[in-house]
Amino acid sequence: GYNVKIAGVGYSVPEKILTNKDLEKIVDTSDEWITQRTGIQERRVAAKGEPTSFFATIAAQKALEMSGIQAEEIDLIIVGTVTPDMAFPSTACIVQKNIGAKKAAAFDLEAACTGFIYGMSVATSFIENNIYKNVLVIGAETLSTIVDYEDRNTCILFGDGAGAVVLTKSEEKQVLAIDLGADGTGGDLLSRPAGGSLNPITEENIKNREHFVKMAGQEVFKFAVNIMNETSKKCIEKAGLTNENIDFFIPHQANIRIIESAVKRLKISPEKVYINLDKYGNMSAASIPVALGEAVEKGLIKKGDNVLMVGFGGGLTWGGTLIKW
Ligand code: ACO
Repeated sequence: GYNVKIAGVGYSVPEKILTNKDLEKIVDTSDEWITQRTGIQERRVAAKGEPTSFFATIAAQKALEMSGIQAEEIDLIIVGTVTPDMAFPSTACIVQKNIGAKKAAAFDLEAACTGFIYGMSVATSFIENNIYKNVLVIGAETLSTIVDYEDRNTCILFGDGAGAVVLTKSEEKQVLAIDLGADGTGGDLLSRPAGGSLNPITEENIKNREHFVKMAGQEVFKFAVNIMNETSKKCIEKAGLTNENIDFFIPHQANIRIIESAVKRLKISPEKVYINLDKYGNMSAASIPVALGEAVEKGLIKKGDNVLMVGFGGGLTWGGTLIKW
């Protein structure tokens, strides 16, 4: 097939910061507990009138600018999100309108926190098979709109933001490996029970707060450590590399302890691991592309580096991709 490269990256986060101290005033928690158990110190929250598409659009425009590719040249827009502006039209269609990508097809893709990695794989496949040339992949969330700010087990974890990449057909082969997986039997561990066709929103389920995120934290924790290790190993193997060849590691930013355990098992040295969860918390599908955007902006990724990105989340889902920068 054809080769795929990342032509541009961009990200956007809300201005408003919600610190651990702020959360102390909302739920029975402490800055110390949150910092020790998760590594998170603050997260961003969208203002009213700033839906998911707002951040997705800015991230997309920045990625386009870096790529030198015009919006009119984009063939497809994929938005990974669990917090679309509406059930329909898709957030991808809203972004398409906002950026003026007139000839682009557009759809949302739902793989929870793995949404960006799933999106990258779909885009890569379209380009490798010569169906499309330029694809915009976005991970974008406003989790603050579905988090229960009365539930201390979850509200401390999540934040809002968006990241985007422009993938393009190229001489250079950048996408070396992809690994995706799912285990629907674990779906109950992390879900938003009401608001879909199973439980349309009613007064009763609002009273029971079922339109908010529910999570079995410890089970998800164990799953996450295991699967980060497994999917990383598969990507490295598929690319014909070894762990020592990984120059830069971008894990999903859910919890510092999950990342540290996984990294230890993978024997990847900590200075190669990018962390920004202290500032943003877990932004679900947006975590990995925002981290990538920041790392590129800071000049931390060098030409030729092997960059491994790994995600996991609700579904359950997981996935990784290995990029030769
Ligand atoms: N402040 C203070 N105390 C708290 C808080 C809080 N915010 N939250 C929970 N506690 C309490 C619990 O009630 C419990 O008290 P108890 O012992 O009296 O019952 C105690 O702290 C310990 O709770 P645990 O759940 O055992 O704490 P744990 O160390 O497992 O940390 C956490 C909880 C942070 C949620 C952790 O399990 C975790 O990170 N899990 C993975 C979550 C995750 O990654 N989710 C998203 C993945 S996919 C996606 O991104 C959508």
